[in-house]
Amino acid sequence: MKMEPIRKDIDNIDAYKPGKPIEEVKRELGIADVTKLASNENALGPSPRAIAAAKKALPSLNRYPEGSCYYLKRKLARLLGIKEVNLLFGNGSDELIDVILKTIKAPDAEIITADVTFVEYKISGSINGFKVISVPLKDFTFDLEAMAGRITPKTKAVFIANPNNPTGTYVTTRQVLEFLDRIPREVMVVFDEAYVEFAQKEDFPKILELLGHKNVAILRTFSKIYGLAGLRVGYMIADEEFVAAAERIRQPFNVNSVAQAAACAALDDKAFVRKSMTLVAREMKFMEKALTDLGVWFKKSAANFIFVRTGMDARSLFGKMLKKGVIIREMSQYNLDNYSRITIGTRRENIKLIRALRDIIKEDSR
Ligand SMILES: Cc1ncc(COP(=O)(O)O)c(C=O)c1O
Repeated sequence: MKMEPIRKDIDNIDAYKPGKPIEEVKRELGIADVTKLASNENALGPSPRAIAAAKKALPSLNRYPEGSCYYLKRKLARLLGIKEVNLLFGNGSDELIDVILKTIKAPDAEIITADVTFVEYKISGSINGFKVISVPLKDFTFDLEAMAGRITPKTKAVFIANPNNPTGTYVTTRQVLEFLDRIPREVMVVFDEAYVEFAQKEDFPKILELLGHKNVAILRTFSKIYGLAGLRVGYMIADEEFVAAAERIRQPFNVNSVAQAAACAALDDKAFVRKSMTLVAREMKFMEKALTDLGVWFKKSAANFIFVRTGMDARSLFGKMLKKGVIIREMSQYNLDNYSRITIGTRRENIKLIRALRDIIKEDSR
């Protein structure tokens, strides 16, 4: 029997399924050398300067953190050329998705996103009582035209992951501008730019330049290029009034003191960011060539991961890869049974992955 106080409307919500942790695979399969290419983390680890700053912050752990992220906010605002009042930090951008939804919540409200995208929009949207409209991707890319067509007076927000997770595709400047022209001011358009630093493309939209003119919010994170996924820091860039409203909704100490110190140091370590970008650009080429040689289909990616289709059931592929000590992500949660997402790793990790994949494909074709 169900416990009475538990709300009924969460029965249909699937909890977020994270990438399988390395330690879990080591424990369960008794494999010592496990490579995780499942959660789009930075293969180089955190910046050494961020580690040093985190250590330096440890003796003050008896104190509450600065709720406003004072130094981090000041540094980031300068770096981005925006005002501090346009910034809000969160316990990862995950938390900010929830904060945005709580800020715009209204009875019978709807949000629009894609059917194959970061699942937190749907999970958080449902938990917050929104009807979530999932519009099919077009050629694995957000179909902004179709999404604009789904706007109704009930629509409160549109969530666009750019580049998209898990497909790695992006919407262009022209597509975004045409889309924004069709969107009423009552609708918040959220661009989730978790992978923006990897998207070095001419026609990739500069949403930051639209700030102040449009009802847009940008989400970014320290979990990807900055290598600080374990510390949980993300930020939102938005209109001053929207940020002020969201400030009232967030938890008072949502970003811990160690995370704030490490994030500040990570911003200073430009060499590390460059090195991470260079690694992904070079290794993406390596992976594209290796996958082509294996006859594996992939979608061209603007992020630090690649979306692939093999002839095999992806869940079975996932299990076989695990046994060879490589964790990838299968896409059955989207009903994409032959598709997987692979994070770009170091050359050693990528070679290990390709060798494992080659062996499994060979075994499968026998
Ligand atoms: C598109 C997208 N947005 C947000 C996140 C979550 O980032 P954070 O670690 O800042 O919560 C992810 C993580 O994978 C992501 O892919």
